[in-house]
Formats: sequence, structure tokens, C-alpha cells
Amino acid sequence: MHAAIAVAHPNVALVKYWGKRDRVLNLPAVGSISVTLAGLSTVTRVCFDGTLERDEVIVEGLPGGEAGARVAAFLDLVRGMAGVDAHARVESRNDFPTGAGLASSASAFAALALAATRAAGLKLSRRELSILARRGSGSAARSVFGGFVEWHRGERGDGLDAFAEQLLPEDAWPLVVLVAVTSQMPKPVGSTEGMELSRLTSPFWPAWVESAPAMLAAMREAIAARDLARVGELAEHSCLAMHAVAMSARPGLVYWNAATVAAMHAVRELRRAGVEAYFTVDAGPQVKVLAAPGDAGRVREVLGAVPGVERVIDSGPGPEARLYDEARLGRT
Ligand code: DP6
Repeated sequence: MHAAIAVAHPNVALVKYWGKRDRVLNLPAVGSISVTLAGLSTVTRVCFDGTLERDEVIVEGLPGGEAGARVAAFLDLVRGMAGVDAHARVESRNDFPTGAGLASSASAFAALALAATRAAGLKLSRRELSILARRGSGSAARSVFGGFVEWHRGERGDGLDAFAEQLLPEDAWPLVVLVAVTSQMPKPVGSTEGMELSRLTSPFWPAWVESAPAMLAAMREAIAARDLARVGELAEHSCLAMHAVAMSARPGLVYWNAATVAAMHAVRELRRAGVEAYFTVDAGPQVKVLAAPGDAGRVREVLGAVPGVERVIDSGPGPEARLYDEARLGRT
């Protein structure tokens, strides 16, 4: 029996990934930029065991259901790379709401990629790990790294240039990211399905793809300059553009609830009052707000008072995916 445990964190996209150029290899139609979130964690243990008759997947202490099939398909990739035949037992836990726009598939597949490859006896480079994690879920390619991260669209058909890399380490820019949780319900249409529907039916799709390189270049520059106002403005723009594409699909996808919209307005109200705070929303109802550490208290208070906001989680730039022993020792 060979076991390994890995920890990974979700990430929030500042320039959104929405749409694929290849569904099998999970190649994105556009590049994206994110920040890995500290504090929120997925912990995954993988154990290959020759006595198992099939893969066993336990998520939050319960059999994995649909997630189980996705994990088993991912383990097939790892078995193929490592020349291992054995089935595996996978146990995974999150300390944040699953499936509600907190990018749980990102931390899930980043942790799984690291734990499964180590348990299978492989030691991949970060780039190889990012390429592998991408096969499980696109955004997982980014959670392999800490801090500010860019995932390249790539041009190749085999996906070897569609990996993520770090733009800025997590300790290079002390920013806060507050997550206003407005619902713990799983979203009705998952990202995979939502982005495919957008690609096939939204009249705004070509404009979304064409505008991506300029958005990425501007965000790269703004992050390098640690310019919160610029990063924030671009992040809001990318978020609203992505949702405009999703909303203009057929049927239109509305990931927001009333509290999502109220929180977005509250953030803009804060700005009018002189507080530098900026929102972004992924394919779910939670609102993530970027702010300077000195403004965190004020932003938290305002978000917490928005009707329908259930709680506000404090986060900021966090570390890369790592083996549990390393995490326990504080290594990143
Ligand atoms: C809105 O990575 O969950 O959060 O590759 O199909 O698993 P799959 O999709 P996923 O999509 C994330 C979409 C997003 C934007 C982003 O994270 O960039």
C-alpha cells in the first residue's frame, strides 16, 4: 500500500476562465489569472491498494457519487503515467461549502493530482502537476501554485503549453480577499456545462474570446505593479463580462441571487465612500472582495450587514498545493 496526503486551496479568478477549446484535454478557450486563497483547504488522502476491486472515493465522509466517477477517470491518468494497476481509496475533505462557487473543484483536483502522483511513486515538476490537475478541472491547474497565478491558454493540440505558472508569490503583496457567502446550496448548472452552453449559444462568445489577451496583459501589468485600483477594476470587468456571456446563453445562466447583487452594490458604495474594495463572482452566488489589509474590518462589516449574506470568510493570497507533512511543518 502506498499512501500520500496533500493539501490545496481554492483560487478566485481575477481574469476568468470561461469556455474550452478542447473538452477532453480541458484546454481553455482563454487564458486566466487567479489568486490562490489562504485558509480555505481541501485535504486529500490517496492510497493505492492491490486488494481493492474498484476505486473507493469518500468525499466529506460519504461515498463520492458523481464525483467518484470523475475521480476514478483522473486516477486512470495517474495509473497510466506511473504504470500502476492497483485501485485506490481516496478520502477528501473541504473546510468550505462544496459546489457553490468557491471553486472546490480547483482545490480538489490540485490536491488529488499531488497526492495521487506521490502515492503512485511519481515526482512531477510543478508544471507537470499543473498540466495533470487541469485534466480534472481547468481551474485546478492554477491551484497547484500559490499567490497570483496565470494559466496559459496554449496553442498546442496536446495541451503541453496549457499550464499555469506563478506571477507573484503569496507574500509579495498583502491583500485581503473577503468571501461573502450568500448560499450554501450547490449551483444548478455546473461550470463545465455552463461554459459549453455559453460557447455554443451566446452571441457574445466571439467578443469574449477576442478580448481576453488584452485583459490578461493589463492584469499581468497591474499585478506586477501591485496596483489594487487597476487590478480591482479589471477583475470587476472580467467578472461582469463572463457573466454577460453566461446570461446571454440559451437558456440564460444566472448564477447570482439577490444577496449577490446587493453585495456587489455594497462594494461600489464603499468605493464611493473612499474605501478601495472590488468584487468578483465565479459561477456561483458568493461574492469575493479584494481590499487592502487596512480596510478589511470596514469591508467585512459592510458585507456582513448585506441582507442575505450568511457569513464572511477572511482570506488572502495563499500557498501552493503541498504534501501534508510539508504543510504541517509550515513549508510552502
Ligand atoms: C467561473 O475549473 O470549475 O470559476 O474545467 O469544467 O472543471 P472545469 O471548470 P472549472 O471552471 C471555473 C470557472 C470559473 C472561472 C475561473 O475559475 O476562472
